[in-house]
Amino acid sequence: MPVDTDSAEGAKYKRVLLKISGEALMGDTEYGIDMPTCLKFADEIALAQQLGVEICLVIGGGNIFRGLAGAASGMERSQADSMGMMATIMNALAMQSALETIGVQTRVQSGIRMDEICEPFIRRRAIRHMEKGRIVIFAAGTGNPYFTTDTGAALRAAEMHCDAMLKGTQVDGVYSADPKTDPTATRYETLTYQEVLARNLRVMDASAVSLMRDTNIPIVVFSLHNKGALQDVLTGKGNSTVISGN
Ligand code: GTP
Repeated sequence: MPVDTDSAEGAKYKRVLLKISGEALMGDTEYGIDMPTCLKFADEIALAQQLGVEICLVIGGGNIFRGLAGAASGMERSQADSMGMMATIMNALAMQSALETIGVQTRVQSGIRMDEICEPFIRRRAIRHMEKGRIVIFAAGTGNPYFTTDTGAALRAAEMHCDAMLKGTQVDGVYSADPKTDPTATRYETLTYQEVLARNLRVMDASAVSLMRDTNIPIVVFSLHNKGALQDVLTGKGNSTVISGN
């Protein structure tokens, strides 16, 4: 069913890209894809979609294979990155399955052609899918080695003219130190792109943050772990850190 963005009740954004790390799909397991966790995220996305927000997704691949780790163990870097990109396609297909299990329409578009299992990335087609209320899952990062899925997410957010990039993480924002090890760590409500880059806050890699700065798309860092967290972020409730130009 088409998303009626004009009635996007109380939503701060009309179109967003949600970035989830591959590790998040592991849930409490050590490796790979935990379907109950995928279904939990699918529920979150379905709830958020009810606000009338158009949503696209980028999922990392670190739960299956990390290009950098492959390169560190002696593999040629471009080869290793190709394997990492294929891992993101597996995750995209798992999330597609989870979303469609609960009746949410989706399309997967890949930056590396894999026509038998998903669509190729076609920007204008992706926009039409979103206008029709489908969740578009972008797989295979930028389709190039030497980039990360954060950069892929930033690129797609810019190409889709998203109003925000939402980064779902383990914690509910960006902290002054690691909140798991340092009890004095405090969460920033807001930061500028420049502060993130200058202080090397490692929210996302620098090229992703710079692209968001150049295209003036805010990055919202939040925790996906609480029920309704995505809906809360979209309506300006709950904890998060908003990174923008001011
Ligand atoms: P509309 O034109 O808006 O109806 O979009 P649509 O995506 O439903 O149109 P289409 O008839 O092109 O696609 C029907 C199904 O085929 C969808 O599930 C698409 O994801 C899938 N599909 C389209 N192109 C490709 C492709 O190149 N490869 C694969 N594997 N599936 C594709």
